[in-house]
Amino acid sequence: MQENRATSGLAHCWYAVATVDELGDSPAAIQLLETDYVMWRGPDGNLVAALDQCSHREARLSRGTLDGGCLRCPYHGWSFGDNGRCVDIPSSGKNATIPPGAHLQSLHLAEHYGLVWMSPGEPISPVPYLGVEGDSSFTRLNTGMQTWNCAATRMIDNMLDVAHFPYTHAGSFGREQEQEVPNFSLTQLDDNFHGYEYSVVVNNEGEAKAMSGEDDDVIRLDMSTGFALPYSVRSTMRYENGIEQVLFMTAAPMTPTRSYFTFILWRNDDVRETGQSIVDFELQVALEDQAMLENIPGVLSLDRGGLVDVQSDKASVEWRRQHRELASST
Ligand code: FES
Ligand SMILES: [Fe+2]
Repeated sequence: MQENRATSGLAHCWYAVATVDELGDSPAAIQLLETDYVMWRGPDGNLVAALDQCSHREARLSRGTLDGGCLRCPYHGWSFGDNGRCVDIPSSGKNATIPPGAHLQSLHLAEHYGLVWMSPGEPISPVPYLGVEGDSSFTRLNTGMQTWNCAATRMIDNMLDVAHFPYTHAGSFGREQEQEVPNFSLTQLDDNFHGYEYSVVVNNEGEAKAMSGEDDDVIRLDMSTGFALPYSVRSTMRYENGIEQVLFMTAAPMTPTRSYFTFILWRNDDVRETGQSIVDFELQVALEDQAMLENIPGVLSLDRGGLVDVQSDKASVEWRRQHRELASST
């Protein structure tokens, strides 16, 4: 059996690494916490993920082929089926005994909200629970998996931050007149998410109108934003007309400076006509953040006192404190 290189507490968490839709006829190459994995849907319909390293001579299995859910290594043709079990060694003939060490060690995998979640080590907590998924008055809108050339830590710090709206998002919803961030308190929003509630004035022009359902060019809305360790943030927006949008964003570190990113929206209005405009608007907002973060070199300092923080940074301060605890646990 092969071993996973799972050490810090971060290796015992769930990460969204792919969308369910993108898993097709070829094995997927996944990189998580500087380790390469292969993932595919096995013969029984369940996903399998293992180190991207054949148990025979370490060839990259993600370069192999799928046949009936079995993954065949491109080097000598060994084949792996349900749960990563080796089912065929062509050079040994059909009736040969398979050596126990030939089987791949399958990782923990789960499918939730249209995303594939992977945990390299034994998970210490569940995939973030989003109760809105079971609420029939809401519709889910998924977006594709992106790769950002920046640290996942910088992404969460950004998602918890309101003070960048008037500047980074001047091209979408940010208003230059709304620079001061009112003092807010941190609270446990529910079992999973820790954060704060606030009210914000935003620009509501162009495609933003499809999102808010409001006619005015400037509107106020109530928001709540919170994090779930390690790299997920949920932002709930409530408009005065009763429309609610839940925005769930999640990142996963491929390397210290490269990350997966995707977001999901849930809406309580009819999105058959407006869904694409709403997604396009949120993609534009994400692009504004990505352009900013990809131009900041290096990783975010996570040391206590490693950054200058002001009152509007208090959610990031708390997230960094909890992240330090998690990263130092085993
Ligand atoms: S390296 Fe995969 S079959 Fe030999
Ligand atoms: Fe942003």
